[in-house]
Amino acid sequence: MITIIGSGKVGGDAAMFSALKRLDDHILLLDVAKGLPQGEAMDINHMLAEQGIDVHVKGSNNFEDMKGSEIVVIVAGSGRKPGMTRMDLLKTNATIVKSVVENVKKYAPDSMIIPVTNPLDPMAHITYKVSGFERGRVFGMGGMLDLSRFRQFICEATGHSRDSVRALVIGEHGENMLPLARFSSVSGIPLPSLLSKPELDELVQNTKQVAAKVIELKGATVHAPGNAISAIIESVTRDRRQVIPVSTCLDGEYGQSGVSIGVPAVIGRGGVEKIIELELDDEERQMFERGVASVKDAVSGVEI
Ligand code: 2OP
Repeated sequence: MITIIGSGKVGGDAAMFSALKRLDDHILLLDVAKGLPQGEAMDINHMLAEQGIDVHVKGSNNFEDMKGSEIVVIVAGSGRKPGMTRMDLLKTNATIVKSVVENVKKYAPDSMIIPVTNPLDPMAHITYKVSGFERGRVFGMGGMLDLSRFRQFICEATGHSRDSVRALVIGEHGENMLPLARFSSVSGIPLPSLLSKPELDELVQNTKQVAAKVIELKGATVHAPGNAISAIIESVTRDRRQVIPVSTCLDGEYGQSGVSIGVPAVIGRGGVEKIIELELDDEERQMFERGVASVKDAVSGVEI
């Protein structure tokens, strides 16, 4: 069973994409708001019935119902509003995430946890610490979403098919995000040999800023995060061993320890099976380290 805690728009979309991809026969939507997960589950089940898909979505306000879950996604908490940075949500969401993780520990102790709540990297770290799970079983969704945006901008700039574009974004899912043009390509051709430095810089800036733009225009980001969650779940449930940037606790990798931040990792049935270490140049390393400092600073302000 896949459990998604938090049944707002992103949680609902993650359930819908996971159901459409048939990632598990049972998906549970949990939320403290009475009626919300139940209504969301009904709506998705009606859609699945028409499509003839035998995935069953259940809505509940009872944490005990997550017993037996293999994967638990945490989307609970306040979302980013227009004009806010992700870090503005730190205090409110840390309290919510800590209490949610206590429930995961109690009812789904053998699960893998995918934190999504913002600010993502501090929440991934708090989840890892509070759960006490081994680090490969806690991996936050941030870079997968950021790379979907970078990929779209690359497609727009080059005019090439989305299918041929590969993109990578690591580091903080926040102000210090690190879109890596050198490790992005069109059909294997490195991006820097297709676009000029000023063009690349523009794509990088756009990738960093576009979530705020979407939030300003429609109030929230929904489909891209919902899909990115399902993409990570798919790599686990189908044991695809895809290389996906996830926020996981570093233990010497990239010269850092005791901090959760986005790095490319092999995601399979065992969760984070391997962290891939890239040779960053000076400029990239500086941005990565700024992200590390920002996450460490945020976590230090929260009682775990
Ligand atoms: C996003 O990037 C708000 O973190 C959220 O869509």
